Amino acid sequence: MITRLDHIAVAVPDLQRAIARFSEDLGLALTGREDVPTESTSTAFLPIAGTRIELVHPMGGEGPIAKFLEKRGGGLHHLCFSTDDIEGDVAKLKAKGWQFLSESPKPGAHGCRVIFAHPRSCEGVLVELSQPPAAHE
Ligand code: CO
Repeated sequence: MITRLDHIAVAVPDLQRAIARFSEDLGLALTGREDVPTESTSTAFLPIAGTRIELVHPMGGEGPIAKFLEKRGGGLHHLCFSTDDIEGDVAKLKAKGWQFLSESPKPGAHGCRVIFAHPRSCEGVLVELSQPPAAHE
């Protein structure tokens, strides 16, 4: 079952400038930054009221975020929903015709297991499902 909106990811061509927009202008607190070399991505986290904004920027000008920025410019990249049963939700959504970018969930940040659904499955929005480690049976 989907339990909450975990984060909203925004692709940004300039990470420092984007951090300033969300922290200095909008007043959100920057609580962390993480480079994910396997995804060629630099990330910054700005939590607010049970969810967080995640700024995603290409590391070294390469990878999926670089391609996204080339094609579409900066902007909304994906929504991530927490689930307490990722296999169950993937099966339910597949039965409704959803397509996923990998066969099964993969290890993500913070010990979560994650999977992405193709944007064509959800009105043009890339959707990530994430199951936190505490909810693993
Ligand atoms: Co995400």
